[in-house]
Amino acid sequence: MTETEKSPLLIPSSTTVLLGCSQDKPASHESDYDRKIELKAFDDSKAGVKGLVDSGLNKIPFIFIDNKANLNCHHPTKSLDSSQLSIPIIDLKPVDQPTQSIVNQIQSACEKWGFFQIVNHGIPESVLDGMIDGIRRFHEADSEIKKQYYSRDMSRKVRYFSNFDLYAKQVANWRDTLRCRMAPSPPEPQEIPQLCREIIMDYSKQIMELGFGMFELLSMALGLNPSQLKNKGFAEGLLLLAHYYPPCPEPELTMGTSSHSDSSIFTILLQDQVGGLQVLHENKWVDVPPIPGALVVNLGDLMQLVSNDRFKSVNHRVIAKNKGPRISVASFFVMEEDGSRVFGPIKELLSEDNPPVYREVPLQDYLTHYNSKGLDGTSSLSGFKI
Ligand code: OGA
Ligand code: NI
Repeated sequence: MTETEKSPLLIPSSTTVLLGCSQDKPASHESDYDRKIELKAFDDSKAGVKGLVDSGLNKIPFIFIDNKANLNCHHPTKSLDSSQLSIPIIDLKPVDQPTQSIVNQIQSACEKWGFFQIVNHGIPESVLDGMIDGIRRFHEADSEIKKQYYSRDMSRKVRYFSNFDLYAKQVANWRDTLRCRMAPSPPEPQEIPQLCREIIMDYSKQIMELGFGMFELLSMALGLNPSQLKNKGFAEGLLLLAHYYPPCPEPELTMGTSSHSDSSIFTILLQDQVGGLQVLHENKWVDVPPIPGALVVNLGDLMQLVSNDRFKSVNHRVIAKNKGPRISVASFFVMEEDGSRVFGPIKELLSEDNPPVYREVPLQDYLTHYNSKGLDGTSSLSGFKI
């Protein structure tokens, strides 16, 4: 390849950045040094993956190339599609008086899948659609507006970035994220971008209430009394991760989100109708098909820890697509603020036959490990086993 064929990618910002792209020879980009410079150039643009796409590129920059994307059953024929097998769909009506049947369905879904969809959950479709629209408005706003929010400062309650683990992980994902810590102490309203302020506040309030209901159902599914998980203070923290997956010109070379499990007790996920989310089930990737009005619930690592491995946090990922954008909002129930809080297997679940698998872990130790490792597909819990 000659020098003239290699066109610089213009990132829409005051700086012009040259990022190596997929047509370049990998050999010239293998050194860590190059990679760090390119990561930094991308980060400094403060325009995310959306900014790259807006610059009109038709090859993806090298930093996004995931050699495992292809091998890893990335091709749809190697994944099980939803017509063959699907995560359970649970009807929550009437949510006020959960019947034993709902609890049984949740218990079975948690033990077999760690993932399920819920319908009749009480949040109107207009609110779900409004949230998707609001998040789209933010990510599609002028880059000058978004730049004010671009930050890796963990102490900021509201911020926008691309790849929280950009510098930790081997490969970057094809997505941008607006992150809002909504509970226990919410941000001042004016800290939330005006383009989506009202809907984020409304959606969070409703997700928090739904979350309380889910905590009760999950508590019962574990055979505990309904308020037990809530009483341990697990339901107090809410973190919103509002993702934007721009259309990708070479989707077979990268991932929207690499395989991972969540750093929450559980997560309630809202996805639009584009699709691409997959869950690892019996060693195969199974599609999680979008259903209008439904929400996806998945268990996180902290649930696996407190349930002493009875309920598992299951790996999932999002494949990149050349259509889109895809928008999703993950609501993590996790109390980031109180890092000194200790998590361990719930005593009532332990017995002589079921001794603790994990030691007591300060939340901060777990989160630090999770964040420094990045989404590399391995469990963050293994280091905390007894
Ligand atoms: C996450 C996640 C899936 C999605 O944020 O942890 O898995 O569909 N998101 O964006
Ligand atoms: Ni996740």
